[in-house]
Amino acid sequence: MKEINGADLANLPLPVKSLFTGYLLVIGLGLLMAGAQILLTHGMADGKFGLSVDDIVYSYHGNHDGENASKLEAKLHGSMKENAPPEARLAMIKWVRAGAPESEWETTIKPLVNQYCIACHANMPGLPNIGEKDIMLKMAAVDHGVSIASLTRVSHIHLFGIAFIFFFVGWIFSFATGFSTWVKSFLIFTPFAFLIADVAAWWLTKLEPGFAWLVIIGGFGYSLASTVMIFSSLYQMWVTPLRVKKG
Ligand code: HEC
Repeated sequence: MKEINGADLANLPLPVKSLFTGYLLVIGLGLLMAGAQILLTHGMADGKFGLSVDDIVYSYHGNHDGENASKLEAKLHGSMKENAPPEARLAMIKWVRAGAPESEWETTIKPLVNQYCIACHANMPGLPNIGEKDIMLKMAAVDHGVSIASLTRVSHIHLFGIAFIFFFVGWIFSFATGFSTWVKSFLIFTPFAFLIADVAAWWLTKLEPGFAWLVIIGGFGYSLASTVMIFSSLYQMWVTPLRVKKG
């Protein structure tokens, strides 16, 4: 134990340095790829490139609060507004908001569709035939964001997997020199704290879109802390020893 504590990055034996270096390079590359993937998947959730709070809200919370929550309701407020009298539109909107129960299809909704919508929607090519229940249900579908089941799955994979990354990055960095014990401990602990904040923020955002910013801060926080540790570890293993020799 004493020996390990006494070791510092610059003086590690070459085989250990090459092990650490290989690991840090791969992890660094992995972080870059993770960043790129987030930009390409979540980043495009709102249809615009680049990660924004809206992207996070669409991904985790979905889009089920306003009148644009379903295509059907959006159209009934928009370009289909003139096609049915207010009572008929209201009945359809109530149906959407109640979760489009299939039990009301035959009794309430289908007659309205037949009366006001089918003339175009069953005949004009290219228009969805909303006289068919399944097609109408698609139009009435509301985006609830990520499901609890997949959030649970992704959360535990993320926590276990990333904890491993931070453990080894932090362990390697614990051999660094030139940082006070407090700064070192803080840097080593930071990614774990941000990881917990990040995953907690996913769940909070699912319930309440206001927490989306915490997801971004969490992800940014642990990327920054690990970048500092990766770069200073590589620097001390390969650049500092050369300097010491020259001096
Ligand atoms: C006069 C013809 C006409 C009538 C009547 C009509 N629609 Fe439409 N509907 C269209 C056209 C054309 C579009 C495509 C253009 C658009 O989205 O505004 C469309 C699009 C839609 C869409 C979006 C489809 C998609 O996949 O993007 C929905 C939902 C919809 N209509 C619902 C209704 C409902 C509900 C009614 C009855 C209250 C209705 N429409 C009556 C012509 C009609």
